Amino acid sequence: MPESEVKPQVELKYAELKPFPDWCKIFGKTCELFLEIGIGNGEFVEWLGKNHPEKCFLGVEVNRLYFKKAVNRIKKADLNNVKLLHAEGSKVLCKLFAPSTLSGLYLNFPDPWVKKKQKKRRLVNEFFPWLLQSRLKVGGFFLMVTDYQPYAEEVIEFFSKCKAFVPLWDSRPIKNEFPNYYHTKYARKWLSQGLPLFYVGFKKVKHLEIPEEVLNYYPILRLEGDEALPAVVIKVPQKVSLSEITFPEGVVWRDKNLVVKILEVFKGKNSILLDILVSEGSLLQRFFVVIATHPDGLIVKVHDSELPDPTKGVHTAISILAAEVLKSFPQAKVVQNQCKSSVFNNVLKSFQIQPELRKAP
Ligand SMILES: C[S@@+](CC[C@H](N)C(=O)[O-])C[C@H]1O[C@@H](n2cnc3c(N)ncnc32)[C@H](O)[C@@H]1O
Repeated sequence: MPESEVKPQVELKYAELKPFPDWCKIFGKTCELFLEIGIGNGEFVEWLGKNHPEKCFLGVEVNRLYFKKAVNRIKKADLNNVKLLHAEGSKVLCKLFAPSTLSGLYLNFPDPWVKKKQKKRRLVNEFFPWLLQSRLKVGGFFLMVTDYQPYAEEVIEFFSKCKAFVPLWDSRPIKNEFPNYYHTKYARKWLSQGLPLFYVGFKKVKHLEIPEEVLNYYPILRLEGDEALPAVVIKVPQKVSLSEITFPEGVVWRDKNLVVKILEVFKGKNSILLDILVSEGSLLQRFFVVIATHPDGLIVKVHDSELPDPTKGVHTAISILAAEVLKSFPQAKVVQNQCKSSVFNNVLKSFQIQPELRKAP
């Protein structure tokens, strides 16, 4: 097939993207960038791509089934200015858009989570406008449509509190009609029942520092570039067996913003695999850690099957498991350590292990 006929790749992979990737390179052109979170079947992002060939659009979706449908739709439409990502929207904003690079965000019928208990699952909450303003360019917009008035009102309240934004339409942040805006499946359903829609819009007018509590809520924001995943190599006495190490199951760490849980431990002859859950702020990461033999002794590292973002919580989890190994073998010493030293030392102290005494000379 001649090069000009090679179809552009529609689907991107979150794990393969470095922080703040070069979007011009990914789209193959210099472009204004827009994001849609929760694309569903992809009909809206397809409409955007067709109607604005000079602009570039990234669509993200957490539901794998919808995501596949959307990928097929965009492939069929043969658009080179639309890319799709199976990922959670706030993670994408934190990791993949450098400050002041995004021109607009579309949210069509975000899940309203109407039950009181589930409300905290809403994508747009008190923290979200702060995250979004940091990624938008001055002049960039937030545009949301919903059928659920209480959500629309709450979103207006949150955005109004973040002084980076002003209402989008002549000082009004809400309207019921938006001519020429594409009606997705959900819009068609509500309109056919004679129900009103609520369009909410804000524009970024200035850039603000991200407050500490927002950084805690979105821990990926604290990553500095393409950080490596933590690993620890421990020199152990020659005649040790992995079966001598015991691990508790359940919650093994809890502080105000972080919980680490060992879900399950699988012991093999030459390695141990641990199923780990880390919850920090709004971020939940599940991954495997492997403890295996290494030329220098034992290595504790994240298993390649599911790579988490290397947040403080992931450093804490690796430090805890390394501490368990050190606790099992009093003569063992750390020979290589890629955990953040403040995190590692803090964990070791909580195990009553003195970090200085367990470091190989
Ligand atoms: C009610 S549907 C609306 C779909 C589409 N926007 C439309 O109007 O037809 C909400 C969609 O958002 C997706 N979604 C919800 N929260 C998300 C998040 N945090 N990141 C990415 N997608 C999300 C859901 O899986 C679902 O497909």
